[in-house]
This record gives sequence, C-alpha cells and structure tokens, in this order.
Amino acid sequence: MTLPAADDKRAVVEAMFDRIAPRYDLMNRLMTFGIDRGWRRRAIAALGLRPGERVLDLACGSGDLAAAARATGARVVGIDFSAGMLRQARTRRLDCGLVRADALALPFADASIDAVVSGFALRNFADLAAALAESARVLRCDGRLALLEVDRPASTLLRWGHAIYFRRVVPFIGALLSERDAYAYLPESTVYLPDETALREILVAAGFRTIRKRSLLGGAAQLVTARRAEVAAAGSAAPKGEGATRMGAAQRGALHA
Ligand SMILES: C[S@@+](CC[C@H](N)C(=O)[O-])C[C@H]1O[C@@H](n2cnc3c(N)ncnc32)[C@H](O)[C@@H]1O
Repeated sequence: MTLPAADDKRAVVEAMFDRIAPRYDLMNRLMTFGIDRGWRRRAIAALGLRPGERVLDLACGSGDLAAAARATGARVVGIDFSAGMLRQARTRRLDCGLVRADALALPFADASIDAVVSGFALRNFADLAAALAESARVLRCDGRLALLEVDRPASTLLRWGHAIYFRRVVPFIGALLSERDAYAYLPESTVYLPDETALREILVAAGFRTIRKRSLLGGAAQLVTARRAEVAAAGSAAPKGEGATRMGAAQRGALHA
C-alpha cells in the first residue's frame, strides 16, 4: 500500500478511521490476542492518577484508554477527529467527555489538564511535533504524559516474526473482517515513527522532561512517559485568549461531530 502524501495524510487518516470504526475494537483484540488491554492498563497506571484529576485521551478512538482512566476516578475527556470513531466511543456510554477535535489544535486552555494519554496515534498525526507541543501547552507544569505505540523489536528473530505477522497476517485478518488497506497501512505507517532518540528530542523541544521508554512484549509496543517541564515564560500558562476554555465548558477549536 502507498502511504499518503504529507498534504493528504490528515484527510486520508480521518476517512480511513471513519470506515474501520465499526470493527476497530474487534480487530484490536484479535490482532493483539487481547494483550493490548494489559498495555492500556500499564499506560494508565504510569500516570498515577488521583480521583478528580483532569485527563485528556488524545486521539481517543473508541475510548479504551478513556474508559480505563475514568475507572480511576479521574475526570476524562477524549478527543478524536474521526466522527466514526467517536460514534463507537459514544455507544459505550462512557462517563467521559467526547469531543471531535484535532490533536494539533486542542480546544482547551493552557495548563488546564493534569495528564495526557494517547494510544497508537503518534504515527497517524500529520505533524507529530505539533501534536506533542499542543499536548504540552494544555498540560499543567509537572503534568504527566503517557504514550502507547507500536514499536520494532530489537532482536533480529523477533523482528522477523513481527514483520511477517504485521505485513501478512494482520492485513489478511483485516481483509476478512474490516478493510485490507487500512490494516496494510498499520505496518507501513511505522515509517512515520521516530526512533527513541528522535522522539526524545521532539518531546524535549515540545516542553517535556523525565522521559522514559519501556518496551512491551519484546519490543512489539512501547510505552513512553514524560512530565511537563516548568513553563518558562511568565504568563505563558494563562488561558490563550477569549476563546480558551476549561474542560467541561464550550470547547475552542472543536470540530462539528
Ligand atoms: C490507531 S487509532 C487509536 C485509537 C485509540 N487511541 C486506541 O488506543 O485504540 C488512531 C486514532 O487517532 C485519530 N487521529 C489521528 N490523527 C488525529 C488528529 N490529528 N486529531 C485527532 N485524532 C486523530 C484517529 O481518528 C484514530 O481514532
């Protein structure tokens, strides 16, 4: 499958997730044999959430991470630009806010969020650095970030097995149950993922510190955590203008659902 040109990526990714949304959860469980549930629990545990804290599930899709975060007693809002994925999330009747919005222009005020979590979305963003900078903007000082993503195993043998599974088996199951092209995009889209050093640099430039990467299942996936560094410029933690809002109020930049 050919990856979309940079200018088309946003529209192509949005349309693709709209199409595969109805079978997205089923495909996730089958592709990972349900192991993704444990990864999600680890990502939420890494945030060390306290009841009442404000959590953003960035590119929430069908809402698995939002649901896990809500179970801790945190107040959760999920954003995603795919109306189809949000529709799936809404069928779950999660006690969370769900907003159609772009991760590159979040409808929240500066420093209004305690923790941001994001699952398997990094390689889908049209501009990863911009999405992480936007996450840093909405996080309060010392706020926590947890990013779950696919990865490439370090061992040659595991990399070989992993490549066969993701390049042959997953698109085959995708063709049977969902859409072949979308599940052929999954392994291809890893080219958008920066390696560990480059991701660290992007995170530091965005305003994060205490960056830590954990490999999951021999490197099939990764969990990257970080903390929002102190906001340097005086006044930069103030809401960004008249349209800026706190979670729960009318949202700046929200797309039409
Ligand atoms: C692989 S899915 C992951 C969904 C969910 N986070 C999970 O863990 O299952 C990637 C999601 O990213 C969303 N997405 C990609 N780019 C986005 C953007 N710029 N703004 C908002 N959502 C975006 C897609 O619509 C899709 O729901």
